[in-house]
Amino acid sequence: MAFADGEIAQVRAATDIVAVISEHVALKRAGRRWTGLCPFHGEKTPSFSVNAEQGVYYCFGCRASGDAIKFVREIQHLDFRDAVQFLADKAGIQLHEEEGSGPKRKERLELMDAMARAVDWYHERLLTSPDAGRARQYLRARGIDGDTVRQFKLGWAPDAWDALATSLKLPVHVLTGTGLGFENSRGRRQDALRARVVFPIFDTSGKPIALGGRILPPSPEDPPRTDGRVEPKYKNSPETAIYSKRRTLYALNVAKDDIIKSGEILVCEGYTDVIGFFQAGLPRAVATCGTALSEDHFRTMKNFARRIVLAYDADAAGQSAAASVYQWERKHEVDVAVVQLPKGMDPGELAQKDPDALREAVATAMPFLQFRLDRVLLSANLSSAEGRARAAEMALDVVAEHPVELVRDQYLQQVADRCRVDVEKLRPMLDSAIRRGPRSDAPATPAEERTTKEPVPFDLTSSPRPGLAALSLLIHQPDSVTDRFEAAYFIDETQRAAFEALAGGALVADAVDALERREERAAAQLIRQVSVSDDSEGAAGEKEVSEVVAQLLRASVGEELKNIDRDLRAGLVTPASAISVIRDVKLRLAELDGADAPSAEAELRTWLVSREDFTDA
Ligand code: UTP
Ligand code: MN
Repeated sequence: MAFADGEIAQVRAATDIVAVISEHVALKRAGRRWTGLCPFHGEKTPSFSVNAEQGVYYCFGCRASGDAIKFVREIQHLDFRDAVQFLADKAGIQLHEEEGSGPKRKERLELMDAMARAVDWYHERLLTSPDAGRARQYLRARGIDGDTVRQFKLGWAPDAWDALATSLKLPVHVLTGTGLGFENSRGRRQDALRARVVFPIFDTSGKPIALGGRILPPSPEDPPRTDGRVEPKYKNSPETAIYSKRRTLYALNVAKDDIIKSGEILVCEGYTDVIGFFQAGLPRAVATCGTALSEDHFRTMKNFARRIVLAYDADAAGQSAAASVYQWERKHEVDVAVVQLPKGMDPGELAQKDPDALREAVATAMPFLQFRLDRVLLSANLSSAEGRARAAEMALDVVAEHPVELVRDQYLQQVADRCRVDVEKLRPMLDSAIRRGPRSDAPATPAEERTTKEPVPFDLTSSPRPGLAALSLLIHQPDSVTDRFEAAYFIDETQRAAFEALAGGALVADAVDALERREERAAAQLIRQVSVSDDSEGAAGEKEVSEVVAQLLRASVGEELKNIDRDLRAGLVTPASAISVIRDVKLRLAELDGADAPSAEAELRTWLVSREDFTDA
C-alpha cells in the first residue's frame, strides 16, 4: 500500500460517513442511528443502518457492512487506494504517495479517446478494406454475419507494421498506455496487432478499453515461416490504466439488457463463445478475458442478475475453485449453475453445430455442487461394493466443500442413495471431511480472497437477548457499565468472545480487528451488527443497566444450576451439598429484584466466577 497507515486513519477520522452514504441513500435518523433503503440489494422496507459515532454501516437484509472506505469501494467499484483517495479529496487531506502511482484523469481520457478511434478504424477496415477479404470470408465461414460484426464491432488489423499508429498519429505514450502499440528496438512506432481479427472489449457503458486479436487459420498461399516461431492464437491488450482484466467481462455492454430481463447471466471463456450464444438466441453471455473468474467479476455480475450460469467446457468448469465459488455465491447472494457441454466442445462450436443442443444445455444447467458431484460419481465404478465405498468417500469430499449444512444434508442423502450406503454411516465421514478441509490437490483460495473473506452472517434474533443488551451497553455507553460484566455471564460463545474483545474499553473498530485477526468472524460480525442496531432514543440509566445485569445473571446462573444438576446425577457431588447450593443461589436470584440487589449481584458474580475457574481447570 502506497499510503502511510496514519494517513488512512486520518481520512477515516475526517470522514462523515452519514454524509458520504447520503449521496447514495436517503437516510433518516432513528434514535442513535440512521436508516434507509440498502443500496446493495433491492428492497422496499429499510434494513440498511448507519452508526455515525462508530463510522460503520450494516444491512440486515444482505449483510453488507463496513466503514466509509468499504462503502465507497462497493458503491463506486473502486479499489482500496482509489476509495481512500476519493475520501481524502472530500476531506481536503493531501495524501503522500509514490510519484505518479495515482491514475490521472486527463491521461485516462486521452487513452480512452485513442482506444475508441482505434476500434472505429479497425472496424471500418474489416467492413470495407480490400485486404480484409480473407478475414470476412473466415468470419462468414464461422457463421458470423455482417449484423454480428456490427453488433460486436469486430475489426481487422491489416498485415502491416504500423498502419494504425501512423493513420491515427498516435504518440508513443498513447500506444504504450493503451497497449495498442509500442516503440520497437529501432525507435519506430509499431502496432500490437498485425493481420488479426479484432475483438474489441468494452466497459459496461459501451466504451472500448482493450482488444483481443485472433490470427486467421493458415492458408495454403501463406509463405512458410522461416523463423520457426509459433504465433499465439489470440493476442490481448495488457492491463492498462483503463483496463483491468479481473474486473472486465467481455460483451457485458451488449448482453446486459437480456441479462436483466432474464435474470440470468451466461459466463464462458472465449470471445467466439459469447458470439455463439448470441447467435443461438441467447444474448446474455459474457466472457472473462483470459483470466480466471474473480470475486470482482461476481461483484459486477450480481448487479445485473442473481443466477450465474457457467458455460465452460467440461474440464474447465470442473476445475473452478470450488471454495471461492461457494463463498461468492453466499456473499453476493447469487446462485451458480453449470451448463453441461459435450466433452471437448465449447459453446462457440456447439452454437454452430447444434444450436438446439446449446439452448437445451442452458435450460438444464445444474447447481454447481450437483455438477461436481456428478463428475465424481459418473466416473466411479458403482458396480462393486468397493467401488461404491470409494465413490462415496470422494463424493463426501465434494459435498464437504459447501458451507451450508442444509445444502450438504440434501446432497448427503443423494450420495447415500447413489452409492447404496446407509446415510447415518456417511454422516461422521462428512463431518471429518469438513474438519479436514479441502485436499491439498484442490485449488487453494487465492490470498486476496482470504483477507477479504466475508464475515459469517449472523442472525441477531437467535442470539440470547440479555447478552445482546449487555454488548449494546458496552458499545454505546461503556462508561455506565464499567466493571459490571464478567465473561462468565455470557452463555453464548460468540457473545462471550465479543465481550472479551470489548472488555477493558477497546474501541469497536479495534475489537473487530482483533477478532478478525484471530479468525473469530462470528464475534466480529456480532459487534458490527450490535453497533448499528440500537433503537433506543436516550441513554440507559442505572435502573436499566441493573436490569440487564440481572437478566444476564439469571440466564448464566440458570445454566450453571443445570451443570450442578448434571454433576449430581453423575454422582460427582453429594445431594446434600447440591441442594444447599441450589437453594442459596435461587435465593440470591430472587433478591436481584429487591433492595438487596447490589449485594445479591456481587455474591452471584463471585459464585459464577469461581465456578468458571473450577470448570476450566
Ligand atoms: P480458446 O482457445 O477456447 O479460443 O480460448 P476460442 O475463444 O474458442 O476461439 P476460437 O473459437 O478458437 O476462435 C478461449 C479464450 O482464451 C483466451 C481468449 O480470451 C479466448 O477467447 N486465449 C486463448 C488467449 O488469450 N490467448 C490464446 O492464445 C488462446
Ligand atoms: Mn472456440
